[in-house]
Amino acid sequence: MSRLIIVANRLPVTVRAGEAGPRIEYSPGGLAVGLRGVHRPGESVWIGWPGEIPEGDANARAKLMNEIRGFGCKPVTLTADQVHDFYETVANELLWPVLHSRLDKIPLRLKGWEGFREVSALFARAVVETYRPGDLVWVHDYHLALVPQMVRELLPNARIGFFLHVPFPPEEVFRCIAEREELVTGLMGADLIGFHTPGYAANFQATARSLLRLEGGSAPFAWQGRRVRTGAFPMGVDTAVWTQRGAAAEVREMAATLHATNGCRRLVVGIDRLDYTKGIPRRLLAIEEMFERGLADPGETRMIQVSVPSREAVDAYQEIRRVTDELTGRINGLYSTVDNVPIHSLYRSLAADEVASLYLAADVMLVTPLRDGMNLVAKEFVATRVDGDGVLVLSEFAGAAAELREALLVNPYSTADVAATVARALAMPVHERRWRMERLRMRVGANDVKHWADSFLSELARAEAGYQQEVAALGTG
Ligand code: G6P
Repeated sequence: MSRLIIVANRLPVTVRAGEAGPRIEYSPGGLAVGLRGVHRPGESVWIGWPGEIPEGDANARAKLMNEIRGFGCKPVTLTADQVHDFYETVANELLWPVLHSRLDKIPLRLKGWEGFREVSALFARAVVETYRPGDLVWVHDYHLALVPQMVRELLPNARIGFFLHVPFPPEEVFRCIAEREELVTGLMGADLIGFHTPGYAANFQATARSLLRLEGGSAPFAWQGRRVRTGAFPMGVDTAVWTQRGAAAEVREMAATLHATNGCRRLVVGIDRLDYTKGIPRRLLAIEEMFERGLADPGETRMIQVSVPSREAVDAYQEIRRVTDELTGRINGLYSTVDNVPIHSLYRSLAADEVASLYLAADVMLVTPLRDGMNLVAKEFVATRVDGDGVLVLSEFAGAAAELREALLVNPYSTADVAATVARALAMPVHERRWRMERLRMRVGANDVKHWADSFLSELARAEAGYQQEVAALGTG
């Protein structure tokens, strides 16, 4: 039986060092949450980094590894130096900011490319060890951009797909990376390269054409005797699971309690990984401006901002935490009354049911990234609103904006625009809220994560790599 080999930096679960010893948690972020809906242990194998496995006690290590394997995973363990070069430095201090068009966030000194290559080769080797003829190899996200070509060199006939979960920027932005040709060549090892939107796919096509001097574009590229296709496959969420959560009695009760404990104030909710791409400081400034201009009453409105800790070893993430905390304190100092604090800020991750109860309790959901590949929080919110109510305010710079046209779209850089739009959302009549939500729900329901994976994989299965010959040669086809 041919299987799906998922390759991503993150596994669906991650080991985190805690005071009481290491513990296994579900991994944060859109990629891990989304792919969990696709991964079927037995039919698929998921290769990835298991997180901070403590050195020392060999028995404890073996136990953790076994537990991880139990999730249908093949862990690629990394040393602290490798994590530093590969994950913290190149992936998150160079590639992440460039792909999100934030050149200002690249540190002045950045060393680690050799380590990045070395770890990429470890991932490629893990694929080769796992691969059986006929398997589909699906590599994910910017961390592993070099891996498709490395696997191709070792398995020339394999069908290899790559999906980028973040934006692909305009060519002149991507060109800032010193190793730009190596990265694009790495991606071209795949038979199919997928993006969330046609805009990102077009940016990649233009970049590949000019850096590698290729002919073609939306048609497949001819490259090293193969054809490489590119395309847009907007990722969805596990709609059935979020719908179920939204309908579950416990979650509804939690949402009712949230309303009661907030004194029936109007609730504006934001839930993000704490990342400078998510636009949290500007969002807070927009809320302040809304109060300042008298567009909403700070005594009657409460914002709950959940910021999930992320990449805390990287300087830019420590900085964004400091800025967010300072702004929250300042705005609360200005607008709190003896019985209301307008901004409630939580810095931790929440269980899925808690997240669903916040989605369900929100009068307004604020998703205002400055740039975001897709943003699955927006789609999870819609999928959870089985009551057909709630207003989504969505950044026009999130990939999701291309699909979720009935959200109130905003320019997140304009605090005036966001302030006025949140006030409009808070005042929106119920029939308009329902009309918009109904349409959003239809779209999110039809384009769920299964639909996304199926459309990508069926396109990949048509790849013209020589896998059929390979299978036939083995007499198993
Ligand atoms: C984004 C990326 C994912 C990543 C996630 C969480 O969604 O596209 O690849 O896994 O953020 O970030 P982390 O650094 O914790 O894996």
